[in-house]
Amino acid sequence: MPKTETVILRELLAREGGWVSGAALARRLGISRVAVWQRMERLRAAGFSFEAVRARGYRLTGRPATLHPPLLEALLPVRTRGFSLHVMDEVDSTNDEVARQLAAGRPAPFAVLARRQTRGKGRLGRVWHSDSPVSLYASLGFRPEVEPERMRTFTLWMGVNLCELLANFTGVEPGIKWPNDILFGDRKAGGLLTEARVDADRIRDLILGIGLNVNPPPRGWPAELANRATTLADACGQPVDLNRLAAALIGRVLLAYETFREDQHRDRFAELWARFDTLRGRTVTLLEGGRRHTGEVRGVDDEGALLLHEGRGPLRRFRAGEVTFERPPAA
Ligand code: BTN
Repeated sequence: MPKTETVILRELLAREGGWVSGAALARRLGISRVAVWQRMERLRAAGFSFEAVRARGYRLTGRPATLHPPLLEALLPVRTRGFSLHVMDEVDSTNDEVARQLAAGRPAPFAVLARRQTRGKGRLGRVWHSDSPVSLYASLGFRPEVEPERMRTFTLWMGVNLCELLANFTGVEPGIKWPNDILFGDRKAGGLLTEARVDADRIRDLILGIGLNVNPPPRGWPAELANRATTLADACGQPVDLNRLAAALIGRVLLAYETFREDQHRDRFAELWARFDTLRGRTVTLLEGGRRHTGEVRGVDDEGALLLHEGRGPLRRFRAGEVTFERPPAA
């Protein structure tokens, strides 16, 4: 059963800024008009703004800048019904929280989002700065029950799906830097972190974590990120509606997960990777297990390994590593 606030917000959103009468809301919810008014005041206190006019009703004029669970529920695409989500004020890491909830038996798929993480994790054991409530920290939990080999391109597939969503959302083309960085220009706007628990040669628990810098952090960037990070808002030149983005992202990830699980993603993966790949044709250095390999990137193979041409010899495949740019692409 959706919460009363979610139903009210769905009605208001369906009118796209038009009027919804208090009487109609009261009828729809089976509550009194005074009770509707009380809910509207509660929403106002949570950061919404409305116009309220006698004989016309209510009109939505502003939404909260941070995550608001009933609004997020109201914005979720219809096909996500049945899926559950949990928004937390603060958590150590949404990935760790999803792992705990999967272990405790919560039905999958589900998502955990937080306004702040105290121990946000990046790839290769790095810290993911997570104290901006206008950014997105989200993890989705799945139980795919497939062999680990099937999952090799999972993060890459999700990364390009995210890129396409962001391209549609911002009107600006992002890029993916193998394996998991989302860039606008040469600055990082987000990243993905996949973690899994394998039992008897099957992936039992799968956690997809997504961190996105959405609007500029109220207290600015930490010094080490100032020259490397960007936000979606900076990329498109206007503030981004965090709840709308989060809802669209969840819808997209769920759809992409189903396509992947059914092994229907391969052609689309090749197409999207070619569109968003920022490395193809560039000379890079790949740091892998303490060794450096410099060469020209020739895309990825169908298992998601990076293809590097080091000048002499055959094309080499790398499944893991950290890429840095050597020089700009040839004109
Ligand atoms: C990276 O680029 O290194 C990956 C960053 C992934 C960060 C997200 S934020 C939500 C989820 N929870 C975490 O602790 N990490 C991921």
